[in-house]
Amino acid sequence: MSELISTHHLTKIYGSGEAAVRALDVIALSVQAGEFFAIMGPSGCGKSTLLNLLGALDQPTSGDVWVAGENLARLKDVDRFRARMIGFVFQLHNLLPTLTALENIEVPMIGQGPSRRQRLERADELLALVGLGERGHHLPNQLSGGQRQRVAIARALANRPQLLLADEPTGALDSQSGEELLALLANLKQTQGTTIAVVTHDRRVAQATQRILYMQDGRIISDHRVLDPLEEDLRTLAQSKLGQAILTEDDAPLRQITAEEELVLRGILHRLQAAQSTPVAGEGGAQTDQDDEHTRSSFTEILRAPLPLPLQAVDRAKQDHE
Ligand SMILES: Nc1ncnc2c1ncn2[C@@H]1O[C@H](COP(=O)(O)OP(=O)(O)OP(=O)(O)O)[C@@H](O)[C@H]1O
Ligand SMILES: [Mg+2]
Repeated sequence: MSELISTHHLTKIYGSGEAAVRALDVIALSVQAGEFFAIMGPSGCGKSTLLNLLGALDQPTSGDVWVAGENLARLKDVDRFRARMIGFVFQLHNLLPTLTALENIEVPMIGQGPSRRQRLERADELLALVGLGERGHHLPNQLSGGQRQRVAIARALANRPQLLLADEPTGALDSQSGEELLALLANLKQTQGTTIAVVTHDRRVAQATQRILYMQDGRIISDHRVLDPLEEDLRTLAQSKLGQAILTEDDAPLRQITAEEELVLRGILHRLQAAQSTPVAGEGGAQTDQDDEHTRSSFTEILRAPLPLPLQAVDRAKQDHE
């Protein structure tokens, strides 16, 4: 695998003086070609800003972004590079309302070389790929939300981009349409080798990818491979208000749970914290299967290790509670 995306000291500040917002705060990121990854984090943490910079839709305040060996700031023709290399899918599909599904998919190919006939053939092929072969002549308002979003994906793929950037593509969909969309993305990654970044608030969406970046206040605070659902659940627990309260020994949110529950959670979280010293491979390239195996087995070992708190403490807590 080769590196498709890298960012160095990437910083984005909106506005200036007192009103300045540091939307991205020195981001270093490396993504291999063919990776399918998710970007998560609270509203306003900089996810869309990061995605827009990766897609050359906006310019950094400082630092740089490299995509497919090109420094985006040095490109002579950014529009052409973007049209050829990168596909975008947004939360609201942005289809042109007066064009049919096929015509919408055709739009990004106009001016890129293919003849009208080739464009329509490609649009047909893409529509079939997203499972909407029969709907080519429908206008966007004659399609369901999930179908429109699939047309938007087909459109994003029109010029065979190496990189697909999706900003909350399932945000406006019900859970079944969301799952279908995800399956489609996973399939694209498999069959076309497309590198895919998905910004999402939905943990299940993130778990369907191979790697999850968590952002907070313009920084990447966690970057890990998705190993198994158990580990993901534990990480979610660790990052939740309750988990953070336990780890920082902040009592206020803990009044909701029993002393026994707190002890159990505390034990799990402390062991998880110890296990989290295995971040994703950064500059050094992809981890091997062996590394993954190693991470998994050491994680399981840690989970099996004795609790830091003596069992008597649990018994005591139980008695206190009763
Ligand atoms: N054009 C802009 N001008 C000024 N500030 C901006 C602009 N765009 C974004 N911001 C600010 O930058 C920060 C990051 O915004 P961004 O849109 O990247 O967040 P996000 O993580 O995508 O949030 P959400 O989950 O709500 O979409 C926020 O504090 C936001 O208010
Ligand atoms: Mg956003």
